[in-house]
Amino acid sequence: MARKLILDVDTGTDDAVAVMLAALHPALELVGCTTVNGNVPVQFCTDNTLRVLDHIGRGDIPVFEGLSRPLARSDFPVARRLSDHSGKYHPDTLPVPPTALKKQATGAVEFLIETYRAATEEIALVPVAPLSNIAAALALDPKFVERVPELVIMGGGHEIGNVTPSAEFNIWGDPEAAAMVFAAGFRKITLVPLDATHRALISRAHCAQFAALGTPAGGAAAAFIGHRIVVHDEHQKQAVPHTTPVHDALAVGFLVQPSLLTTRRLHVAVETQGPLTVGRTVIDTHGRGRQAPNCDVAFDADAEGFVELLLRAFAAKA
Ligand code: RIB
Ligand code: CA
Repeated sequence: MARKLILDVDTGTDDAVAVMLAALHPALELVGCTTVNGNVPVQFCTDNTLRVLDHIGRGDIPVFEGLSRPLARSDFPVARRLSDHSGKYHPDTLPVPPTALKKQATGAVEFLIETYRAATEEIALVPVAPLSNIAAALALDPKFVERVPELVIMGGGHEIGNVTPSAEFNIWGDPEAAAMVFAAGFRKITLVPLDATHRALISRAHCAQFAALGTPAGGAAAAFIGHRIVVHDEHQKQAVPHTTPVHDALAVGFLVQPSLLTTRRLHVAVETQGPLTVGRTVIDTHGRGRQAPNCDVAFDADAEGFVELLLRAFAAKA
């Protein structure tokens, strides 16, 4: 039986690859996508998610729009550009055709609360964006924490930051929300930080393999990841030149194939105060805080296995 999941996204090129993997892999059943402010303002995240789903023939998957800003902060300087600057698309829009699909009338937080309240089967929750929607659901429904059987979160970094020397984007984007989520007492959290995603780099040669599949998902993956390689070469050079992590898709890949990640069971908290460290995931690798572990934290990834998983999923037509 396929594993059900809800994907919380700020779509984004790597979110888009995650959406396609979740929507197309036969071992997964994507119950819905929720969107949140992050890579671009939330209305663009929603539109990008709808475009991608339409493009791959999965317009049946509902999309629910969520929070347009972090829980406690008004200063969220988002300035990411998703397309190739050719002028054909708005810079906050992914380079896939417009869609007539519409978001659902229900908001993301209400959808999350109601879906888990009514669930009779396990639905994994996979947030790959700032954790504002998840924290809002926690705040509104005291039972939410018990009802979510499993969280797989892309975010944070131990050795690597990508917004500041200390912090990764998704956690830094709403540190108060992230602090709530890690302290809430969820029964199973897997954290997929930059330390793991930077071990699963995708190259131009891989993009050529995606394009050669001749499917809408293969073509879109090649375009999105190709654009990421250009941006990373310019702003965030990786250990291997002309490659990029595709963070969010690795978190989805883990649900299908847990062996993709090597994890350690550790305590994780989030810094919300320090002027130099706000948004840092404080991962207690040596048990200094003497707190019970609350997460399985990934530090390594099977790069080859990840690419093979993506190739298999994107070969399929919806
Ligand atoms: O730091 C990587 C994360 O930030 C990914 O989720 C990416 O989509 C951006 O939101
Ligand atoms: Ca994301």
